[in-house]
Amino acid sequence: MGRLVVVSNRVPPPADKGASAGGLAVALRAALKETGGLWLGWSGETAADDAGPPKVRTRLEDNITFAVLDLCKQDQEEYYQGFANRALWPLLHYRLDLVDFERRDTSGFFRVNAMFAEELARRLKPDDVVWVHDYHLIPLGAELRARGVRNPIGFFLHIPWPPPDVFFASPWHRRLLETFTAYDLVGFQIDHDVDNFISCLRRDGLGEQTGPTTFFAGGRTIRMGAFPIGIDVAAFAETARGAVDSPLVRRMVDSLRGRALVVGVDRLDYSKGIDQRMLAYERFLKAHPGRRGHVVYLQVTPKSRSEVPEYAAMQREIAETAGRINGSYSDIDWVPIRYLNRTIKHATLAGLYRMARVGLVTPLRDGMNLVAKEYVAAQDPEDPGVLVLSRFAGAARELDSALLVNPYDLDATAAAIEEGVAMPREERIARWRTMYDRIGRNNVHEWCRSFLRALDAGPAAGVSDLTILKKAS
Ligand code: F6P
Repeated sequence: MGRLVVVSNRVPPPADKGASAGGLAVALRAALKETGGLWLGWSGETAADDAGPPKVRTRLEDNITFAVLDLCKQDQEEYYQGFANRALWPLLHYRLDLVDFERRDTSGFFRVNAMFAEELARRLKPDDVVWVHDYHLIPLGAELRARGVRNPIGFFLHIPWPPPDVFFASPWHRRLLETFTAYDLVGFQIDHDVDNFISCLRRDGLGEQTGPTTFFAGGRTIRMGAFPIGIDVAAFAETARGAVDSPLVRRMVDSLRGRALVVGVDRLDYSKGIDQRMLAYERFLKAHPGRRGHVVYLQVTPKSRSEVPEYAAMQREIAETAGRINGSYSDIDWVPIRYLNRTIKHATLAGLYRMARVGLVTPLRDGMNLVAKEYVAAQDPEDPGVLVLSRFAGAARELDSALLVNPYDLDATAAAIEEGVAMPREERIARWRTMYDRIGRNNVHEWCRSFLRALDAGPAAGVSDLTILKKAS
């Protein structure tokens, strides 16, 4: 394979290599390092509106060139806060009630993608292989082709893809779908997303289906496949073992005084079902008075995308729910929910996961959800905790030994919390073992390799998450 070029909305800081970087960044870095690669994206910074053409800052580290550009305020508002996070994000998470199809944002979105393409096209070499990540950059491949780029280009969507009846509610459904025909390989998290996407292509009459997961459109064959993303299981398990002695984790243990810990960790996002989760926990307390005073639920929720109005509204709602439940159930020496609106270091979280009897991962919809996998990786093999996992997270495909719940069904989630708190050790070990082995095989390095192998293999390769899972089991 030629030089690998990765393009993503955010680019991790070059110096960020350890556990705090997260498995995805570590795996991509490893792949980039091997080929002396290039990683291009937004710096996360705002340039002055009249700053002229974007200035790209590059830095070479570990045989990788990191290239980042600032976005002016208008671009940021229209491309990132607007189209990406007020139209695409809710739409692809099945939340038609929250979408905002502002025309101004649509043109900003395509304009910024064209700008990224312009910057990338001039840096590409003939044998480069381009890997584009996530919903912010869907049209990038088409913009590159429009500039004469003929290199292999793959795209991976980290979030879900909805069925046609949801997707076609967007005014630009055809325009966006057409841009996918620029890619050689389009990867999704699970087969369900692939099926939904293929149904959208069919319904819009885009190209001709030439195989179960291949289409011929715009003069090229596009292949689709599911590549369930993983984590670096061994590294995270190691981090968790070490983190139990960290001061913050020790403080947490001391403060529990033998009570069982239930933990939830999510970005503050409506897709994560945090409000429903708190309500389910309230039902658990109501249904099991004997558990009051003996269980503590820690919800760690760093703020995210606060400039987007729907996020600010949700922030208020969740704080109110937590406050109301605590007001109703707290005792002089016990608070049922500890709600933290801040970031905790990734390595420290690993230690908290390890001590938690129950991990609550109950998104209303999620592409994969790596917290679920991290919770499993962090457990003590001799005394593991129980994962309560939403059926609507991509991770539920692999982690089917978790207690799977419908997060909209508050009573069922409450019952799963009780089952998790009460579960005997033998059953916890048996469930955990199956999940640990599976995520160990489908780790993030394997994910990265399998996507790049498929991209490199050309039109003949067909892929599906089931074949990947079967190969691994
Ligand atoms: O999983 C989707 C995603 O957009 C990631 O690409 C990103 O790291 C994460 O959500 C956080 O979002 P943001 O970059 O908007 O803070």
